Amino acid sequence: MFKAFLLSSIVVLNFNAYAHTDISNWLNCERLLGLKIILQNISPTKALLNNLIPRPGSVVASTTPRYYYHWTRDAALVIDSLLQYYEYAASAEEKNEIRKKLPEYLELSRHIQDVYTDEKWGPPIFNLGEAKFNVDGSAYNDFWGRPQNDGPALRAVSFVHWARILMAEGQESFVRSQIYTANIPANSVIKKDIEYISHHWRDLNVEPWEEVKGDHFYNRMVQRKSLIVTAQLARDLGDVAAAGWYISQAKEIESTILKFWDEQRGYFVATLNGVPSDIHDYKHSNLDISVLLGLLHGSLDDGFLPLTDPRVKKTVEKLIEAFKQTYEVNKHGPGVAIGRYPEDRYEGGNPWVLTTLAVAEYYYKIGQIDKGDEFVARVQYHTPASGNLNEQIDRNNGYMKSVEDLTWNYAAILTAFIARDKAIKAAAVP
Ligand code: NOJ
Ligand code: NOJ
Repeated sequence: MFKAFLLSSIVVLNFNAYAHTDISNWLNCERLLGLKIILQNISPTKALLNNLIPRPGSVVASTTPRYYYHWTRDAALVIDSLLQYYEYAASAEEKNEIRKKLPEYLELSRHIQDVYTDEKWGPPIFNLGEAKFNVDGSAYNDFWGRPQNDGPALRAVSFVHWARILMAEGQESFVRSQIYTANIPANSVIKKDIEYISHHWRDLNVEPWEEVKGDHFYNRMVQRKSLIVTAQLARDLGDVAAAGWYISQAKEIESTILKFWDEQRGYFVATLNGVPSDIHDYKHSNLDISVLLGLLHGSLDDGFLPLTDPRVKKTVEKLIEAFKQTYEVNKHGPGVAIGRYPEDRYEGGNPWVLTTLAVAEYYYKIGQIDKGDEFVARVQYHTPASGNLNEQIDRNNGYMKSVEDLTWNYAAILTAFIARDKAIKAAAVP
């Protein structure tokens, strides 16, 4: 392992960083490694599952074969993290690398928006809420949690973000011809998703863990954001009537989101109107990190449910307390290893890397750098010297577990890195 370690240029450069516990150095190493792996996992070339050759623009969730699919949610979050990095921290060379991937993601997204899964799984319109596609861009036709209506919202957010960057770089004509057009029936990538969201956000659908059907805090938060940022873009591009419609739907969503506050339990619950199922039946607490993820991915700094809301604080504290008691590894610090929800049984129910990083990002965003660092230190504690991050951390022995190099983990590294850097800079201002 030591040899492999020296061979990787990134690690050689920062060799000492892994030998001690300095969070700045560690996160810096991880963001370089993360960027490298994210770029590798977009338009990969290997046929690792069912001999399927990846279509350019597909973003694989992991290179472990059973996750070698393009998930709409993971892909959109990964692309958005790249765009945040592009704007905030990327070198000229890194920007070039990122820029190459974006038209590929656009082409792939447009393609899969018109790919229909077997009708036995639902009416054709649900194809926009389809969770995952084969890497060659064909439909996944086996049983899965459907529809997942966070996906099209997140995809729209990622394209609005890219459109904004393009417009700032003087490329509005590309945006107008390739990314957003006012035409109805929708024929542009953003409009297709956002018309679907604006008419279907009330539909019962499946949450980001792909397990439970119902109404979900996470999905509603990101749907609201997608409608608002698209409305702003639509207005700027002259599609004013559509903008009004999107805003009206975002406002309606807001009142439904506030219903997830459970005064008696003292936290925002993840799901309302859940449809009875095996999993729903043992998920008694309804306490779930997807609520915090919904705030991180969905909050807009516009006064609606800011991260500083006392109800958010209460929810985060309940989550930390619950996971502290749930996992053997949490008998010792640093920080607390965080899972999806306390009753989780997926692969034994373990802490996850991206959920632990979400708590770090939350603390950075509310200016509590020391608290945030405890959760990054927790992830660091379980990370091998190579820096590679699996999806999960074994709840008993603390070793990395489940699929390797989960692409979403590195998106979480980039956004935690940015949030920390911003918090440090803000704290330095007199
Ligand atoms: C696969 C999903 O991706 C995962 O989130 C879920 O927990 C398991 N299936 C069990 O339903
Ligand atoms: C399972 C997770 O629960 C889900 O959120 C994710 O989209 C897939 N794995 C792929 O990473």
